[in-house]
Amino acid sequence: MKNILIIGTAGQIGSELTMRLRSIYGNNNVIAGFRKTMPSQDVLESGPKEMVDATMPERIVEVVKKYNIDTIYNLAALLSAVAEERPQAAWNVGVNGVYNVLEVAREHGCAVFFPSSIGAFGPSTPLDDTPQDTIQRPNTMYGVTKVAGELLSDYYFKRFGVDTRGLRYPGIISNVTLPGGGTTDYAVEIFYEAIKNKKFTCPLPAGTFLDMMYMPDALDAAINLMEADPAKLKHRNAFNVSAMSFDPEIIAAEVKKHIPDFVMDYDVSAAKKAIADTWPNNMDDSAARAEWGWDPKYKLPEMAGDMLKVIGEKHAKGLI
Ligand code: SER
Repeated sequence: MKNILIIGTAGQIGSELTMRLRSIYGNNNVIAGFRKTMPSQDVLESGPKEMVDATMPERIVEVVKKYNIDTIYNLAALLSAVAEERPQAAWNVGVNGVYNVLEVAREHGCAVFFPSSIGAFGPSTPLDDTPQDTIQRPNTMYGVTKVAGELLSDYYFKRFGVDTRGLRYPGIISNVTLPGGGTTDYAVEIFYEAIKNKKFTCPLPAGTFLDMMYMPDALDAAINLMEADPAKLKHRNAFNVSAMSFDPEIIAAEVKKHIPDFVMDYDVSAAKKAIADTWPNNMDDSAARAEWGWDPKYKLPEMAGDMLKVIGEKHAKGLI
């Protein structure tokens, strides 16, 4: 990777991935592609930015040519809950956008990173120790787009030799940019509410186990996969990756260790519960460990401690 384009820089992962990639590959070699939402000040001030929309292939081509791009991280997507409200828009970004990026990559010799998700599984998938290769019949539009993206990405690798690689991300927990409209967002919001109000109303019921990951591991996963020796990759799109699995009771108990008077109650969202119930309780990520050395650093206690520290500091400075 020498010249990198990130599509979706302003999002939860994009905002932090842009800065991390710039620190590794050089500020001017990582182009921050944004659409409606402007990237953060850090991103704007540290390197080049371009308006790039995954649904506008001519614009992707212009930017790829202008900067001699060799790697594209296509992070543009609508998350699961919002995709159920706007399925047509979710298809347009999540399938047509992926197709556009793959076509540009084919014509201009770029590698492509594709973020798939636990949402690529569904009710007929084995939900415990979900295997790398298993049934994928999701019943959400988000899941449909992720399975289509995985298949298209594998097709472009096998048919055209495009160097496509992807991860099935779990819920990503972070403290820079909030996720928007996902089913796993509660595991981020609980920390902000704990710091600000010492209480949180959870939209998923007790007993809903989902895979999760702290952002530093999510960034390492993407970069390490894209840097992995291709000869060792038996899979491509996309690898199961997880760092921890918990339900609302377990994360609330962890928060309480730091904030003893923290309280959580429930106001279950039927829409989010319906989605979460079809997703794995915990994925088997042994293929990622074996093929490119996946080895997450943060478990629940380390993640929760760091989240509360960082968000507590922001609160003390009046930033949130
Ligand atoms: N975090 C995503 C969501 O909840 C799952 O990949 O939609």
